[in-house]
Amino acid sequence: MKVIFRQETEGEKGKTILEVAKENQIKIKAPCEKGKCGKCKVRVLAGELKALTKEEKKELSKKEIADGIRLACMAEVIDEVTVEIVKKKKK
Ligand code: FES
Repeated sequence: MKVIFRQETEGEKGKTILEVAKENQIKIKAPCEKGKCGKCKVRVLAGELKALTKEEKKELSKKEIADGIRLACMAEVIDEVTVEIVKKKKK
């Protein structure tokens, strides 16, 4: 059974999703913050972010990109956007 939490907050244009999350005490696992580990994935549900960075193109698969996945530490806010934090299930 799914339990969905939603949180709306203010974010400044030009800041990354991770920066906005940190400013608003929203936790996103982000060990490297440099687009290298791929652990800070978010999915864009509505709106859009600045174009993919070279780090995102390297780290994300074509399927992930097609599914709207971005790296929170790289993806910059350009307008109103809705994202969900992608969490991997523990095995
Ligand atoms: S924190 Fe490592 S890719 Fe974003």
